[in-house]
Amino acid sequence: MTRVLVIYYSRTGNTEKMAKSVAEGARSGGAEVTVKRVEETGLDDLLGSDGIIIGSPTYYGQMAAEVKRLFDSSSEVRGQLENRVGAAFTSAASVGGGSQTTILSILQAMLIHSMIVVGDPMEVGGHYGPIGVGEPDEEALLACRKTGQRVAHLAKKLA
Ligand SMILES: Cc1cc2nc3c(=O)[nH]c(=O)nc-3n(C[C@H](O)[C@H](O)[C@H](O)COP(=O)(O)O)c2cc1C
Repeated sequence: MTRVLVIYYSRTGNTEKMAKSVAEGARSGGAEVTVKRVEETGLDDLLGSDGIIIGSPTYYGQMAAEVKRLFDSSSEVRGQLENRVGAAFTSAASVGGGSQTTILSILQAMLIHSMIVVGDPMEVGGHYGPIGVGEPDEEALLACRKTGQRVAHLAKKLA
């Protein structure tokens, strides 16, 4: 069965709510899904997943340090995540607050691992990945579910 791992960091719960919707979407796409806080995620979790979806609050237009720490530690397994499917999502305080640069910073690290990343052609929630502003609204949660489902479907095709 296709395994999808949803990793997130969240201090005030907004990114966590998005993570739960991403997981719901991945499950509806037929994957076996695990949701983990980034602080509890190890390299074995990454290696054991066909799809990896990472959510971070927007901090100064970038991923939170806790998420960056996971990527920094993942240099140990560089080359071993090739062709896993990746996606990213974020929660920010304002529309122009750097949400897209945050998502792109996560996707960039995934590309350096030679992962295959998915976007969103329909403009529901953001081209590069789902974006929530404050408490995620229904549209943001729908984008999260769609992204989870898209990753599950693609990971299944590639498996
Ligand atoms: C250290 C720090 C930096 C932040 N930087 C930004 C920012 O650059 N742009 C923005 O829109 N929001 C910024 N925020 C707000 C958070 O992204 C926002 O409150 C988000 O919803 C928090 O997600 P969480 O509830 O999952 O912790 C920042 C918050 C903190 C604590």
